[in-house]
Amino acid sequence: MSSTLGKQFVVTTFGESHGQAMGVVVDGIPAGLAISPDDIRFELQFRKTGNYLVSGRREADEPEIISGLFNGRTTGAPVAIIFRNVDAISSLYSEVSHKPRPGHSDLPLIRKYGRENWDYRGSGRASARETISRVAAGAIAKKLLMHVSTYVTGYLRSIGPVEGTHCSDPIRSLDSKRYQTRALDGETDGKFTALIKSAMKDGDSYGGVAEIFASNAPQGLGEPVFNKIKADIGGAILTIPAITGFEYGMGFDAARMKGSEAADEIVRGEGDILRYRKNLSGGMLGGLTTGETIAVRCAFKPTSSIRIPAKTVDLDTLEPAEISVTGRHDPVVAVRGVSVAEAMMALVLVDHALISGLIPHAKLSHKEAGIIEERWGDYVKKCQ
Ligand SMILES: Cc1cc2nc3c(=O)[nH]c(=O)nc-3n(C[C@H](O)[C@H](O)[C@H](O)COP(=O)(O)O)c2cc1C
Repeated sequence: MSSTLGKQFVVTTFGESHGQAMGVVVDGIPAGLAISPDDIRFELQFRKTGNYLVSGRREADEPEIISGLFNGRTTGAPVAIIFRNVDAISSLYSEVSHKPRPGHSDLPLIRKYGRENWDYRGSGRASARETISRVAAGAIAKKLLMHVSTYVTGYLRSIGPVEGTHCSDPIRSLDSKRYQTRALDGETDGKFTALIKSAMKDGDSYGGVAEIFASNAPQGLGEPVFNKIKADIGGAILTIPAITGFEYGMGFDAARMKGSEAADEIVRGEGDILRYRKNLSGGMLGGLTTGETIAVRCAFKPTSSIRIPAKTVDLDTLEPAEISVTGRHDPVVAVRGVSVAEAMMALVLVDHALISGLIPHAKLSHKEAGIIEERWGDYVKKCQ
């Protein structure tokens, strides 16, 4: 299996949904960055379970930072964070243990690793509980990116058939942090909430589309040809469970456009800086960041664990069977998925910023660390 991402900012996640703990080791953080459990908690609140619109599993999600800090600042050593699992109920998975769920990882994992080695309790590593480790590492990445004034934000554009309000402004997308559904405004939040409630009542689920931005990303991040920035961001986003689609800029619409419509016109901007007038390329051209806002969209499929019975085969008898999943599941994974996609974008960008030397790889000066702290405080305020 593969649990490591990144070249310079190297993130390794570990832990199973119903094991003792989840965790992450982040190597490659320069010394001198202030990191506190509050910084991690701040980002984790947006993927939290236990409220009435998402999975009912009540996890504390309490970060224990067990290495890599001295006096609250990074030393340059790996930072390890663990989250103890406190609310796993493995008995909810007894039916899944012999009836693989359609649309979930059960059957492919059994085929590759053997049924005897398959951790069906809460889906083991395939559980989205693993994404807590990504969001924790993403909090550090987001904070470190403030060295280059880059902010990663996102919101939910649509759930199932309901199209919400859209925006192309990263700062405006911070409004979504006020709504549990990650909608951009109160009206959309109301519509999303009603749809989620109807899915819960019916025992069904919906997919959704999230949009993620990076504002002020420095020009020239990316390493053509095989570590193009679009490939690394796309690849990282596609590792998120339940993601079925990724596009950036014009995305799939480009295939229906004429060259004259798709031209990303170059103009002379303020301070003689050359800009792309419409940013049709979503901040990425030639495998490199252009300095314009990076804008990507990702599609999450509907949750496969639903109460409505679906056809499967009983692994013990090989007879046709039905499964109705009654455990605690997200009716719309895209809601909590927004914060996971933000984390993945931040992890890739910070890795490239370190590779290109825009963030010092060994040490931040006291002044640099102070500016990051100030910007982080500002960001936290804007999210409220
Ligand atoms: C934030 C988040 C929460 C999720 N919650 C659930 C869930 O409650 N039940 C479920 O069956 N799948 C859930 N998933 C999706 C599964 O983990 C995923 O579909 C499964 O591992 C198979 O992987 P694949 O869909 O990427 O092929 C969630 C995904 C994310 C990103």
